[in-house]
Amino acid sequence: MSTWASLISTVLLVCQAIKTFGYKPVIVVHGILDDAKDLSDLRGFITKHHPGTEVHTLDFFDHYHSFIPLWDQLDKIRNFTTPLMQKAKDGVHLIGYSQGGIIGRGLVQTDSNHNIHNFIALSSPLNGQFGDTSFINWLFPSALKEELYKIFYTHYGQLWSIGNYWKDPHHSKMYRQYSDYLAALNNESIKEDFKFPPAWKKNVLRLKNMMLIGGPDDGVIAPWQSAQFGCFDENEQVVPMRKLDMYQSDNIGLKTLDQTGRLHECTISGVHHTSWHKNETVFLKCIEPLLT
Ligand SMILES: *[C@@H]1O[C@H](CO)[C@@H](O)[C@H](O)[C@H]1NC(C)=O
Ligand SMILES: *[C@@H]1O[C@H](CO)[C@@H](O)[C@H](O)[C@H]1NC(C)=O
Ligand SMILES: *[C@@H]1O[C@H](CO)[C@@H](O)[C@H](O)[C@H]1NC(C)=O
Repeated sequence: MSTWASLISTVLLVCQAIKTFGYKPVIVVHGILDDAKDLSDLRGFITKHHPGTEVHTLDFFDHYHSFIPLWDQLDKIRNFTTPLMQKAKDGVHLIGYSQGGIIGRGLVQTDSNHNIHNFIALSSPLNGQFGDTSFINWLFPSALKEELYKIFYTHYGQLWSIGNYWKDPHHSKMYRQYSDYLAALNNESIKEDFKFPPAWKKNVLRLKNMMLIGGPDDGVIAPWQSAQFGCFDENEQVVPMRKLDMYQSDNIGLKTLDQTGRLHECTISGVHHTSWHKNETVFLKCIEPLLT
């Protein structure tokens, strides 16, 4: 073979290899009061360690629009993700940060056509929020967390995204009556017109992996274990995921994922809520291995 012919065949082989081993596109959902630019560090880590990856960070429901009710957000987000998924024949990965993770969870459960391989929730209130945090203090300046159920567990309160996943352990019946979103996704809703669709479990079980990232120094997600599906009991003691009815009855497929080696937790201390997506150590330890 001439030098040129061998060069050309090498180039073709390399192209073939890139095509075969190319990284799947990554869809990223930002958190409350954020926009896509706030997640530029995470995007940078992905393209630095996996050059050529297509990263699609949702750039809507930015800032104050992030308070829009989550079902309404999901309708539009699905319109954005569906064509991306259709184009990605080998599937995509989904990363949700903070509120973006509970939105991502909704997408995984409710989109019967999703081709998400790995779903990564980066410090997300996956099993609700019950804590005073700066954005709640900003919305309702003098409200104590003990009082907020009076606002959130009403029709009006459900018009706020946070109300959709507010989980007050002292008012669990009201939570089950009013929570439009979290109680529905958890199969905890007792609304008359709600029946948990079996597909919402099947859609979870189509994932290859689910990664739950959180840590004790988060400072915003309360309890921080909600990032790994933990939640408070009525004494405000944390019930870890594997002790929950939701896990043990396998309502949403967590137990099956776990028993088949597809449910992973990454717990890291020393990371504040606003730093999860800026920390390359977190990225390399908890996220990068799942983005192939
Ligand atoms: C999503 O797309 C459907 C079909 O094209 C359209 O009817 C609907 O209004 C869109 N929803 C949002 C929130 O953009
Ligand atoms: C959801 O909850 C209802 C009522 O507790 C139960 O009958 C049903 O089996 C649950 N669905 C799944 C998929 O576990
Ligand atoms: C990232 O997190 C690790 C683990 O807690 C910590 O040791 C490190 O200082 C953090 N790095 C940055 C840049 O914040």
